Amino acid sequence: MRIELTVNGERRETEIWEGESLLFALRERLGLPGSKNACEQGECGSCSVLLDGKLVCACLVLAAQADGHAVVTVEGLARDGELHRVQQAFSETGAVQCGFCTPGLIVATADLLERNAAPSDDEIREALSGNLCRCTGYAKIFDAVRLAAER
Ligand code: FES
Ligand code: FES
Repeated sequence: MRIELTVNGERRETEIWEGESLLFALRERLGLPGSKNACEQGECGSCSVLLDGKLVCACLVLAAQADGHAVVTVEGLARDGELHRVQQAFSETGAVQCGFCTPGLIVATADLLERNAAPSDDEIREALSGNLCRCTGYAKIFDAVRLAAER
């Protein structure tokens, strides 16, 4: 089947198989590999994207469900060659090691700060509870979120 959707502000069309995930369509059909595929079961958050402004695991959404809707991926956060403040903060605080979790964490953090400009540590913990990181121990990730919030 053919779907038409808005991805990072651009109208896109692609052929899909009815059973494939939005994550597969973004990565393999639309050339956007920023959203990562780590578990494909909704457990790790590495595939987090915004669907009509709502944070979702793209591996749990059918591509067909995104037909006619708007998706924002990590690639859509930077503007005019400038990193989004959350991307900048992750980079500056050393919150990135292997980087596999990073796109999902950045999308989830950007979503959090849109809703809550000055989150407490508990609010950060809760907002990022669906995003797993095997490398950093989370301390630097918290530093990054606090830095982005300050800005
Ligand atoms: S790849 Fe989607 S939640 Fe892990
Ligand atoms: S930096 Fe490696 S999983 Fe988070």
